[in-house]
Amino acid sequence: MEVVVVETPEEAARVVADAYTALLRRTPAAVLGLATGSTPLPVYRELARRHREEGLSFSAARAFLLDEYVGLPPGHPERYREFIRAELERHVDFAPGAIVGPGDLDAAPLDAGPAYERAIRDAGGIDLQILGIGSDGHLAFNMPMSSLASRTRVKTLTTRTRQDNARFFAGDIEQVPTHCLTQGLATILDSRHAVMLGFGRGKAQAVREAVEGPLSSRWPASVLQLHPHATVVVDEDAAGQLA
Ligand code: F6R
Repeated sequence: MEVVVVETPEEAARVVADAYTALLRRTPAAVLGLATGSTPLPVYRELARRHREEGLSFSAARAFLLDEYVGLPPGHPERYREFIRAELERHVDFAPGAIVGPGDLDAAPLDAGPAYERAIRDAGGIDLQILGIGSDGHLAFNMPMSSLASRTRVKTLTTRTRQDNARFFAGDIEQVPTHCLTQGLATILDSRHAVMLGFGRGKAQAVREAVEGPLSSRWPASVLQLHPHATVVVDEDAAGQLA
């Protein structure tokens, strides 16, 4: 695992965008892993800029999302697929249908996990997976105590997560879905390069546990210690508890 400490999220975005740029120049048909949440936004903005100003192209690439709510209708603004459409897809040149989320397959929720694993495998696996980290160490919707060997599956959202996310649903927890589909921790480990980003003091403990703590499902991001090519890009606040 390599740890890169930067001064600002914008500097982190350039570091990560450099990895995307090198990959897409080498392998235009690369398979990308996309995360939602606030953390990757500077990266998506930088990729959009490079597309606009420097001709970086995604036209042959494919992408898979990390996770999705279960039960929100297509087009619902809080669907993670819609988030990626708004924050990245409509600013670059992915081919239609090139981006797939775990909720997009024509499968009942309980079959969607294995179907998603198959779709990723059939695409040749994920070359570059971008990740955020929760302040409790979660990765995707793999909350503390998730199995380190987990694969894409349906999970029940905890009341705490639904309360946290209610702010995106007019403050009404009743509107927050009760279930999600998420790549598992072992799915994330299968990516050829995993890049985890963390910004701000609120992430410092989780980053320390992920990088220096014991491997433990108590801190799901610590699973990245098993990844053969993991890069952690953090600002000084998020790096503040590292030895
Ligand atoms: C995103 C995801 C989540 C976030 C995490 C951090 O697809 O699955 O694990 O990466 O909750 O969220 P932010 O980036 O908003 O701090």
